[in-house]
Amino acid sequence: MSTDTEYQHNQRCYGTAWAPATRVPRPPEDWAHHAASARMYDRLLGGSDNYASDRAVLADLSEDDFERLRTAARINLEHNSAVVTRLADEGFTQFLDLGCGYPSPWQPARDVDETALTLIPVPRVVYVDIDPHAVAHRRMRCENEKVVRIVQGDLARMDTLLRSAQVSGALDLTRPVAVLAHDVLPWLSDADAAKSMRILREWAPPGSALSITHACDLGPTRPSMLTPPARDKAALTYLTRDKEVIREYAGGWPMLEPGLVPTARWDRESPLPEEMWHASGAYAGVAIKPAASAAEARGA
Ligand SMILES: C[S@@+](CC[C@H](N)C(=O)[O-])C[C@H]1O[C@@H](n2cnc3c(N)ncnc32)[C@H](O)[C@@H]1O
Repeated sequence: MSTDTEYQHNQRCYGTAWAPATRVPRPPEDWAHHAASARMYDRLLGGSDNYASDRAVLADLSEDDFERLRTAARINLEHNSAVVTRLADEGFTQFLDLGCGYPSPWQPARDVDETALTLIPVPRVVYVDIDPHAVAHRRMRCENEKVVRIVQGDLARMDTLLRSAQVSGALDLTRPVAVLAHDVLPWLSDADAAKSMRILREWAPPGSALSITHACDLGPTRPSMLTPPARDKAALTYLTRDKEVIREYAGGWPMLEPGLVPTARWDRESPLPEEMWHASGAYAGVAIKPAASAAEARGA
């Protein structure tokens, strides 16, 4: 069966609301025997939505390295709430969470819609993930369909994803959108990561926010240690990148204070001691799309 036919088949089976918004790889029949990033992340955070295949990849790490990755994952997850809170304070009411994963199994952290609902009377939240099980899980747990839309799609097909009715139809594109790309770009190739962020920046209405967290080897916290066993066991891409490459994903848009910094340093309320700056194993920054210049607005 060709991929196109498979995609159309999905739409017939699931209807247009639940069909994937882009082509997505068909999971192999023995999918549970292949590690998945969403479930490995769930395992790191102490959740129960993971299998032996996911645990086997992480089991190759020493106890210390596992703990370092777990701390980095928790910092990344807590950062979600810090960013949503700050952007809600700045007046944002719509959020697009790219590579959302499973709902947080780690209780201190909140999902985007949970945080948003405490701050905004009627927020709009669109979650996107490529993983059919993470998407199904979120749909089953969703209690507020007026606020939340959950979409299966591939960020490597960003153009199709953003133009889909599932995404564009759920957001008011005459107003700014807060886009979260947290710990998802390392799972994309260099070419796909750069292209998807370029398309996203062009699509975003003026005034939109682009919040990125991205793995980077910082001192003893080396997320790249995940790569060799993952590559051997699960054929997963996981790329740490340098700060300058991560900055380029924001396309030169001005950043909210404190700029692009280790994730734990972004939120002034972070309880982590200063000397633990490397524990994030990642950089974080929130960039704001400038209002269109007069020339751009004329289409020049
Ligand atoms: C480590 S989790 C991050 C979860 C969440 N964003 C966070 O920061 O807590 C990475 C997620 O990215 C998703 N992902 C990986 N590649 C993707 C792609 N090409 N398109 C959409 N989602 C993708 C995975 O399925 C997984 O759920």
